[in-house]
Amino acid sequence: MNFQASLTISLVLVAVVISQSFYNDTLVRSRIFPFAAAAYGDSPQKCFDNLWKDEIGQHFTPGIISVPCMNNTHCFAYLSIHTVLKQIVIAFRGTDTKGQLWDEYRDEQDMAMVSDSYFYGKVNYYFADSFHRLWDGGLGEKLEQYYTQQGYEILFTGHSLGGALATLNVAYIVRSGLGYDLKRIKLVTFGEPRVGDATFADTLSKYAPYVLRITHYRDLIARRPCKSDGYQHHSTEIFFPQEDMGVNNPYITCIGPEDPTCSAGISSTLTNIGIEDHTHYYDVDVSVYGESNCTDKGLHRSKKGSRIPQRWLWGLLCDDDIPKHIA
Ligand SMILES: *[C@@H]1O[C@H](CO)[C@@H](O)[C@H](O)[C@H]1NC(C)=O
Ligand SMILES: *[C@@H]1O[C@H](CO)[C@@H](O)[C@H](O)[C@H]1NC(C)=O
Ligand SMILES: *[C@@H]1O[C@H](CO)[C@@H](O)[C@H](O)[C@H]1NC(C)=O
Repeated sequence: MNFQASLTISLVLVAVVISQSFYNDTLVRSRIFPFAAAAYGDSPQKCFDNLWKDEIGQHFTPGIISVPCMNNTHCFAYLSIHTVLKQIVIAFRGTDTKGQLWDEYRDEQDMAMVSDSYFYGKVNYYFADSFHRLWDGGLGEKLEQYYTQQGYEILFTGHSLGGALATLNVAYIVRSGLGYDLKRIKLVTFGEPRVGDATFADTLSKYAPYVLRITHYRDLIARRPCKSDGYQHHSTEIFFPQEDMGVNNPYITCIGPEDPTCSAGISSTLTNIGIEDHTHYYDVDVSVYGESNCTDKGLHRSKKGSRIPQRWLWGLLCDDDIPKHIA
């Protein structure tokens, strides 16, 4: 074997090993994603008890934080603790079915980024305001109280707006140096919108070692707010390039924050704008699943109509997203 060939083979091996050890589909699908979905329900603990019956008594949810947010919206997060797996989970609720996130997106001025001394770079002001309300509303205190547990890891997660808030929480810890061991922190989000500028995103990717941002096919919210407004995603994106997200469906471990072969390279069509790919992850309607204490997976997106009119959604598309024939 010549040098070139053996080098190629070793590079391929390294790439395979890294991607396998980083995104573990079984782990994320069965032991992380349910935490993000459970944040849509008012009794997340009920969800865990339904899913993991032989772990009843090992798992507690001592923190439920529910506070009013801007523009008559509501913010919700919980802290749960698993005494055998030695894991603390903080999960944030996403856009509720009444359309919290769509309301934010209706008004372009709400896309404004602000400097906030608690984060590196600039961040979306609505997301940052919501995070501060939850953190100051009891989340920070709860985490401080439970983090003293020896050897526990902390998983931050959320879907949609919840993913943005989970990201802000980890970024807050990175900047504040609250004394948390970053090696014990995991951040895994689903259908997360862009949260801040390149400085914000790149600093997070640099300092937090375990960050996964899962994206699904045409998910529109994962492509908002727009790059043209100064926003940039963080790494590492794991992209599912098909509608189906079953165990045997392919996924891509993306390179860099805005890999054109992943979500950022998707262009919408007038008939498929991708909102169902946002509301469904791992073939589950995320909010229906959480609201039902993880008993009802909801209808597969191809079998139900969109909750939001397609024409109205066109207004959400970024310039680089708009199909040529209507631009
Ligand atoms: C992936 O996660 C599952 C569930 O936690 C675990 O059993 C399995 O060993 C992990 N696989 C790898 C390659 O780490
Ligand atoms: C939301 O509230 C902020 C601050 O009160 C205000 O500036 C903004 O215009 C409101 N946005 C909408 C869509 O009502
Ligand atoms: C979820 O669990 C809570 C607490 O046990 C219960 O009050 C609620 O009715 C349950 N919701 C559904 C949809 O089963």
